[in-house]
This record gives sequence, structure tokens and C-alpha cells, in this order.
Amino acid sequence: TTSGNASATDLGFRAVPVSSENRVVVPEGYSSRAFLPWGTPITGSYPEFKADASNSGADQEQQVGMHHDGLHFFPIDQKAGGNSSSEGLLVMNHEYINQKALHPDGPTRAADNGGVRPADEVRKEIAAHGVSVVHIKRDSEGTWDIVFGSPFNRRITGNTGMDIRGPLRGYGKLVTKYSADGTETRGTVNNCAMGPTPWGTYLAAEENWHGYFRNADTDRPREQTRHGVDDTSRYDWELADNGADEYVRFNITPKGDTATADYRNEANTYGYMVEIDPFTPESKPQKRTALGRFGHEGVIFAPVREGESVVCYSGDDSRFEYIYKFVSSTPYYAATAGGYLLDEGTLYVARFNEDGSGDWLPLSLDDAGFANKVRSAVGTTVGSVDFDGFENQADVLLNTRLAADIAGATPMDRPEWGAVDPDSGQVYFTLTNNSRRTEEQVNAANPNANNTTGHIIRWSEEGDNHAASRFDWDIFVFAGEQGTETVVDDQVIVSLTDDNIFNSPDGLWFDYNGRLWIQTDGSDAAPYQNNMMLAANPETREIRRFFVGPVGCEVTGVVTTPDVKTMFVNIQHPRSDWPAGTEGDHPRDSTVIITRDDGGVVGA
Ligand code: FEO
Ligand code: CA
Ligand code: CA
Ligand code: CA
Repeated sequence: TTSGNASATDLGFRAVPVSSENRVVVPEGYSSRAFLPWGTPITGSYPEFKADASNSGADQEQQVGMHHDGLHFFPIDQKAGGNSSSEGLLVMNHEYINQKALHPDGPTRAADNGGVRPADEVRKEIAAHGVSVVHIKRDSEGTWDIVFGSPFNRRITGNTGMDIRGPLRGYGKLVTKYSADGTETRGTVNNCAMGPTPWGTYLAAEENWHGYFRNADTDRPREQTRHGVDDTSRYDWELADNGADEYVRFNITPKGDTATADYRNEANTYGYMVEIDPFTPESKPQKRTALGRFGHEGVIFAPVREGESVVCYSGDDSRFEYIYKFVSSTPYYAATAGGYLLDEGTLYVARFNEDGSGDWLPLSLDDAGFANKVRSAVGTTVGSVDFDGFENQADVLLNTRLAADIAGATPMDRPEWGAVDPDSGQVYFTLTNNSRRTEEQVNAANPNANNTTGHIIRWSEEGDNHAASRFDWDIFVFAGEQGTETVVDDQVIVSLTDDNIFNSPDGLWFDYNGRLWIQTDGSDAAPYQNNMMLAANPETREIRRFFVGPVGCEVTGVVTTPDVKTMFVNIQHPRSDWPAGTEGDHPRDSTVIITRDDGGVVGA
């Protein structure tokens, strides 16, 4: 509640201390409980979760995946203009897996098994990736549960069929044995954060997809090397002992004479934002290539206005990578809005100038400035690439990072989530850390060498127009130990205390009242201890620790119901026995439901 001079975004709870306990900590007057842990049956025949992890691959395809990350609550009546806070579709990403926990006795490794992996282990691992759509409802006692048998309950996995949309649809470098015309692919993996669209769909990001592919050739193309594809794959899925095409495709070493003979181009069908329509269960996910191909952390949309472009922002979470903005060329109208708006437009990359201004640099061959830079770069070495030009605009987007290098973007300290302040329109991004930045490599927007604790940057678009080509930026807060200062105009605006020390900001979200929620994925050593979530008042920069997760986890993914009275927070890769509290080797990633005991607004 607000009174007197209080701001609507004031923080109304008492900060919780750091914690190294193997449990969730919330402020006095709040309660929490684990919900939708890995393995919860949500669809099909609802196969019961087996605590010894002996569920099959087929079971896992009907159960909640592992390593919960970004999530969003869609009110069940949203399409009809409603705002339900008691029933909706909770959609969440499953970024990757804990192989040891996924199987009864850990994975069977190819090295110990004649060079192959049991196909059902591979099937289960692929099924534990992807996205879950869960229809949930709150009963009269206030308890949330799954709506069993709901047609909306759905699993999308690392093997679900998907369409390629936008400029890369049909491009020759996306042709595979599966899709001779380069218009389709299978699966989405390493889905980190996400973004709900203004038209009621969900975009899941493909972040560290490169690790899933193996290319045994020493001469790998730039669209692989710039991302770190090498001759090993993270989970050896390509070595499944049944030799099935859907597993073999993760080996992208060229074998036949043509691209339709093998999967040399399979990795070119990954690295995108994937649109999922949770309200249309039979809909096929769509990879929206106009938003670029890189290590997408997530996406955040600016508020839409009738008749104007759709604008969204996306970070590339890798050291010295960039922040991007997409501006649609087709105007938005609520009555006809849809994913097609994301298929035509201009992708820009951010340059943060030393004087606090910034420029959006178009990555389009139709832009004379960019086309000139490309021409000048031909014959030079860009990063580690001997650059010989781009075939066309599809090739530019396939190699988005390389295009951004050529444009002259500012290399950042690992851009993770973004968020747009509903009151001011300012855009915030977490820069989680970058221990490899040297003194010679610092710039005004990334001013710390060996940046182990990270910071949060923000900007205002020129004229409050999100489609603008210029912006003004400042640093909202530097994370770190007690006494870490954020100085503006020679004044210390923030000095961190016991109530708010944190490191490695990652998840970031403005709730519907304009409070900013900051989640961490950093060192869990003293003084920070377990990863946490803090709330911030964007006007005053007051920051307060609200939540601490269990041992070993990262706290990632936050959303509330529209009334901001139920909060959903994801706990990823907990260790030991959380949340069951019984001894065992099978910790379970979970969503945590947080409510106020007096039924009030969370954070107020
Ligand atoms: Fe998956 Fe960048 O965190
Ligand atoms: Ca690899
Ligand atoms: Ca993250
Ligand atoms: Ca992270």
C-alpha cells in the first residue's frame, strides 16, 4: 500500500539475510512451496514419477522437464481480454539436464559402452529438454494444482517438429536430410529465458545450443566456429545405439556429397527464438530467424502501440557478445497481430558510446553504412574469421555475431535477461560477469576488468520511441560485496549492505506494479552464499533481498499472476535432496510458489 510520499514501487518487506541452508528463504509474512518438480506427469497417460529416476524416455515426454528456467503465466482468459489470477497456462523452459540425476545410476557413457549410448537414455535426455505448458488452477483454499486432462497441457522437446520462419526459411545453408527445402527442423535445446509476445504467445530462447553438436572435421565453417562447435558433443546423443536419424543428426560432420545426404547444416537450424502458441496445443513451434542467430538468452518486448513497429530486445550471453534490437517493418494492430510480425524487419546491435549515448547499428545489407563496412571487411580477418563476404541477408543473419563485429558493436560482459520498465519505458539488462575482460578491454559500459560480480545497465530510447536509432544509457547498479558503490554525477547512489549484496545478476523482470526483480546465478561462496532474488525500486534504486534458494542452485525465472499475489520462481540445478528432504541422488528442479500470508501483493 502507498501513502504520503511513498512511491508505488516502494519495497514493503523486511530483507532476508544471506543463507547457506538447503531450503528456500522468504521474508517474514510470506510462504513458499515447491511446485511442478522435474518428472511431474502433465500430459498423455500421466506416468507417475519414480523417485529412483527409472522413468523411461516415453514417460519423460509426458512429464515436466529438467533445469527449469524462464517462465510466464498466461491468464486462461487472456485471449478474451481477461486477466485471471486464479487459472492460467504456466509455460516454462527446461534449459539443460543433470545427467547423473536423470537416470537411476547416472548416464551410460559411450566410452564405457563400446562407443554407443543406450537409445532410451538419449530419448529421455532429449525429452527432459524443451518447454512445458501446464494448465494450472487455484482452488478455493488458495492451493495451485495442475488441471489434469486439460488439452493445453503439453511438452515440447528437443525432438519436436518445428518450422523455420523469416529470412532464413528455405536458405540453402539450412537444407538437411530432414528438410530438403530448408523450411523445417526438429527440436529446441538449451532454452534459457523467454519472452511473452504482445499477442499471447511465448518465445523460448536457444542459448548454448552449440554444445549439442559434433563436427569431427578440423575445417569447420564460420557459422559453427564463431559459436564453439567442436568435435565433441555435450551428451553424445549422436551415438545412440539404435542409429535413429533423430539422434544421428547431432553429428554434423559432412558425410555424403550433398546437404540433403546428411546433417552438416543441422546446427544452422538452431540459435533462434522459438515461438510457441500455448493456447493452440496442436500448433507447430516456429523458429523466428529475423531476430538473429546467436546465444539467445531471452527476449523482451517494448510496449506495443497501434500502427507502429513491434520492437524487442535480446542479449547474447557469452563473454564479449552483444545486445540486439529487432524492429518490425510491419506495423502492429491488436486485431491482427501475430508471429508474422517477427518475420520482416531490421535487426540492430547496440554500440554504447563513452559519453553515455548509444547507437543502434543496423545489420542489413539494405543499409548503405553496413553494406560499406561489409565491403571494407572482405579480405580481412574479423575475430578469428577470414572474412570473404556474405552471400545475402540470410547469410548475414546466420552469422549474426560476425555481422555485429563488422558493424562495430560494443562487446559486453555477458548480456543475460532484459526488462522494460512499464512506467518509464527504460530498458534494463543484466551483465552477469566477465572474468576475462582485461584493463585494456574496459569501456564505459563495461568498466570493470576481471568483472566477477556483474552489473545492470539501462537506457532510454531517444524520444521515448523504442524504434529510435539512438539512446542514452547509465549503469543502474554494480553488484558486489558490502560497500560496492554505484556513483552518478560524483554522488554515491547505491552502496551495497548486508541487505542487498549480490553477484552475477541474471534473471530480470518488472512486475505489473513496476518493481524490478533481480535473480542471481553466481558464486555461492561467502559473503553471498546461496543464489538469490532481490527486489528493486527503479526510481530510488533501493534494493532488498527477498528470497534465497537452496544449496547449489541458480535462481532463474520469475513471474506473477496479474494481481501480483502469486509469484512463481524457478530453482535450477539444486543439489543433494532438494526439495524432497530425503536422502538421495535425484534432486529435482522446481518452480516455487510464493504468496503473502495476508493475501496481499508480493513485494508491497
Ligand atoms: Fe542460460 Fe545465460 O543463462
Ligand atoms: Ca562441443
Ligand atoms: Ca540465464
Ligand atoms: Ca547465468
